[in-house]
Amino acid sequence: MLPMRPMKLGGDYVIFGENSLEYLSSLEGARKKAFVVTSGDFLEKQGYLKEITDYLEKGGFSCQVFDQVEPDPSIDTVNKGASLMKEFEPDWIIAVGGGSVMDAAKAMWVFYEHPELSKIEDLKSPVPKLRIKAKMVNIPTTSGTGSEVSRSIVISDNKTHVKYGIGDMEMMPDIAILEPKLTYSLPPRVTAASGMDALVHSLEARVSNRANSVADALANYAIKHITKNLPIAYKEPNNTEAREKMLISSMVSGMAFTNVSLGIVHSIAHAIGGKFGIPHGESCAIVLPYVIEVNSANETAKEIYCEIAEMLHTDDLKSFIEDLNKQLDIPEKFQDIIQDDEKFEKEVEDLSCLAQHDGCTKTNPVIPDLEGFKEIVRRVYYGK
Ligand SMILES: [Fe+2]
Repeated sequence: MLPMRPMKLGGDYVIFGENSLEYLSSLEGARKKAFVVTSGDFLEKQGYLKEITDYLEKGGFSCQVFDQVEPDPSIDTVNKGASLMKEFEPDWIIAVGGGSVMDAAKAMWVFYEHPELSKIEDLKSPVPKLRIKAKMVNIPTTSGTGSEVSRSIVISDNKTHVKYGIGDMEMMPDIAILEPKLTYSLPPRVTAASGMDALVHSLEARVSNRANSVADALANYAIKHITKNLPIAYKEPNNTEAREKMLISSMVSGMAFTNVSLGIVHSIAHAIGGKFGIPHGESCAIVLPYVIEVNSANETAKEIYCEIAEMLHTDDLKSFIEDLNKQLDIPEKFQDIIQDDEKFEKEVEDLSCLAQHDGCTKTNPVIPDLEGFKEIVRRVYYGK
């Protein structure tokens, strides 16, 4: 029998369906002040930011908008947002954006609730008690990270460019609002990369050595719908059904992985993607087929991959993924993007070491040693 483990599937509510944003007008609060965190670009241009603040104002809230979250958010940005929160004293924090925005907002929330904290090293588990001053709503605008139902954040150090990732259920957003229209204008490359990230979350959750039946059911749902709908959303950005399925599947994927963790696709993608500035989802997509091969050395993982292949009506999961990557114009190997063998070779040792010590490695079904990681790191760079 499996050891007892709690599962947390989101905060208080997950809101989806037509006109989900309207839910914002029903929020309760003592001070009725909402602090909206975003990256500022397309939301504003398309009028969605106004729609969001209009609903909040309709509910009696006054709003302050912080729209300066950059991709791979830094600790400086977190402090900037947190100090504005301290002045404004919101009782709701509303994060609207991709993973970077939601992660940055969660970190700002920690610093706002606990003004004695301000350094990147202060972002560690266990996170002190939140919700004394404010609760959090997350509204994703990409279908990938699952941050709206996850306990995780990744924040970068401005000086060293090292990314700090932590996870603590205290940072699970209280409400997730899924509004597919916010994803319609995502550029194809972002659709492909974030969608593959969501798929990797579920595939890694299925073979995680902490997997359980509830997470399996969630991950299977996501695998089935992402593999079907991602190529459609990529080619037809305005296909509302595919966009809706992708948004729900990426959340469901988040529910699975935040409880059972990930594996070495993420460990290797964090290392190489971080070093060479390649988007997270794209790095994960490139690494995935190689890791399926490595993990198949484990009998249990091999059986799970066969079960998934059967569900997807294919004989071989690895070639199915390679074909999916091809449809999404994702390169087969990192060499195609980095194009500097000498520079890459200089980094192999460090990249392998980073991947070996990444937090995701310990739940992978096969745990390679340093030499093993070097071999995989070279394989994902040079290809077969
Ligand atoms: Fe990911």
